[in-house]
Amino acid sequence: MSSPSAYNPDTTDLDRLHPAVKREKIDVAPGTEPSPMWVIFLALLVAVLGGSQLGNVANFAFETSNPLAGAKLPDPRPGTGGGGAELDPMQLAMKKGAATYALCGGCHQGSGQGVPGAFPPLAGSDWVMGGTERNIRVVLHGLNGPIKVKGADFTAPSAMPPQGAVLSDQDIANVLTYVRNSFGNKGGMVTKEMVQKVREAEKARATPWTGAELDKYADKDAAADAPPAAK
Ligand code: HEC
Repeated sequence: MSSPSAYNPDTTDLDRLHPAVKREKIDVAPGTEPSPMWVIFLALLVAVLGGSQLGNVANFAFETSNPLAGAKLPDPRPGTGGGGAELDPMQLAMKKGAATYALCGGCHQGSGQGVPGAFPPLAGSDWVMGGTERNIRVVLHGLNGPIKVKGADFTAPSAMPPQGAVLSDQDIANVLTYVRNSFGNKGGMVTKEMVQKVREAEKARATPWTGAELDKYADKDAAADAPPAAK
């Protein structure tokens, strides 16, 4: 740089100086200077050669040497890993039925105790524990008119809306299996095939049943098939 003087008549010097200042690189802090090109190329070369050396000499293969592969623990949650294939049909129906029961619990209560005078109990109910066919009919098409559950009367306006349109045969099978084996109840499984047969036989039915209409099914079990294999 030219010496600083108060008066420099040589204007061409200034002209030369400005482009030179512009070309100047900004100061880099020590330790953050970019590495020279040859260092970068050398590092790349080492990485490539080192990698191929691992594959050739040390027989490294990512599929077999993946350090994370062996660390994958089995998922402990029930019902995962292929939709619950590891659960037996009963366990699976109970698990899914419990979820579907959310629909019923609003009326029959989570405890299955119902509400006196309004919603009959499922816990210890002679209906629930009686023939499976009557229960399937109740859930498919609904129920109204006076009934007696555990000796208590349930009369209008107490009515159960049909669930056949919202629930599949499998859903109904699951939820009935669930209520027959919850709240202290102990009963057999209701299968999808049982529900299917009743739905098919009553497909013309558009109105809820009355208790009296279903009396004849009180002890009738729906045509029983072997429980389907777990899905
Ligand atoms: C909107 C309220 C409501 C919902 C939701 C409901 N129910 Fe009911 N349920 C009733 C009423 C009310 C009766 C009694 C009807 C009568 O008095 O004729 C009844 C009767 C029954 C009965 C026969 C009586 C007994 O207590 O054992 C069964 C079984 C039953 N419901 C099961 C279910 C299942 C399973 C679900 C869910 C899929 C369900 N209900 C959803 C209100 C409901």
